[in-house]
Amino acid sequence: MNQKKVEELAFRAVGDAAGAFTVALGYIGDRLGLFKAMAGAGPMRSPNLAARTQLNERYVREWLRAMVAAEYIEYDAVTDMYRMSEEQAFVLANEDSPMFVGGVFHFAPPSICNIEKIAEAFKKGGGISYSEIGDEIAPAIERIFRPGYLNFLTKEWLAAVPGLVARLEKGASIADIGCGRGQSTVLMGKAFPKSKVLGIDYHKPSIETARKLAADQGVGNVEFLQAAAHEIPAGKKFDLICSFDCIHDMVDPKATLRAIRGALAEDGVYIWSEPNASANAHENRNPVGKMFHSISPLHCMTVSLAHNGAGLGTVIGEQGARALAREAGFTHFEKLPIQNPFNQFFALRK
Ligand SMILES: C[S@@+](CC[C@H](N)C(=O)[O-])C[C@H]1O[C@@H](n2cnc3c(N)ncnc32)[C@H](O)[C@@H]1O
Repeated sequence: MNQKKVEELAFRAVGDAAGAFTVALGYIGDRLGLFKAMAGAGPMRSPNLAARTQLNERYVREWLRAMVAAEYIEYDAVTDMYRMSEEQAFVLANEDSPMFVGGVFHFAPPSICNIEKIAEAFKKGGGISYSEIGDEIAPAIERIFRPGYLNFLTKEWLAAVPGLVARLEKGASIADIGCGRGQSTVLMGKAFPKSKVLGIDYHKPSIETARKLAADQGVGNVEFLQAAAHEIPAGKKFDLICSFDCIHDMVDPKATLRAIRGALAEDGVYIWSEPNASANAHENRNPVGKMFHSISPLHCMTVSLAHNGAGLGTVIGEQGARALAREAGFTHFEKLPIQNPFNQFFALRK
């Protein structure tokens, strides 16, 4: 036995456990407003932060010490002051930042709380449906994806297909499949006021929130439909169909892709994003790949298996996407030249 390999693995596993506990405290910091109270506020002592957040000072102090050890915040031992740097605030407190991690902190502990049910599913099969996975999950997912939409959707992702933005600016018909709480749909509606955008998702509370988002922001060219993705309105043809990070979650991804192909105008384009990882697990030995693989049984795979679905799991990679596209009858499949640490993007044509 190689002692060095033993030690490396043991320390990596301890690091993972440290990460799990740190994320639990990250969840607390996000939920109770501790990160936001520190952002831009300059150096402070724990009683200041406790007063600002109206929280118990002893807990706040222990949280601060853990955040210092995790290198999430700075500490000056001479003055006994804690401080959040500009970079730390950008990652931990700024909801609009492309590097914001609050959504992941929001998502992880409530997902892990389903561990009993998931362990049962390991024995008996089946899964936890999206409507039963917990009330915090859909809002957390919204916060994970919103910064990407806000910073890149129109400027980088749609712009990667030549001529597409000009076509949408003139006025086109768009469908956003698996739109969740409507962030991407409303953003496209705002960016392309002459276009009409239809958001489709099977999760009723998400669709209700999406309708409210559009109404609150005064965006009148978007509509939402609560339906399974393969029930895209027959007879309607779309110039652009998008699906962001949801095909692998579906009960019947192949039927969905066939329905998308059927609903696409002859010269329409389908833009499809999936997690940025390989179909081969051994090629995903990096923090992002490791995160996607470990989320899979706790979320993406289980929500599909709950309905006897395909249960593709979070990571299908380009290889899995190409195979699905071929089976659904698409003749053109291209990986778009978009650099993004979390997602890869494909453009498909009939
Ligand atoms: C991980 S989220 C993807 C992110 C989503 N595009 C957003 O911006 O929030 C997956 C979404 O797909 C939806 N979904 C999963 N299976 C579906 C299906 N068969 N039909 C319609 N929506 C589905 C879920 O309700 C959820 O909103």
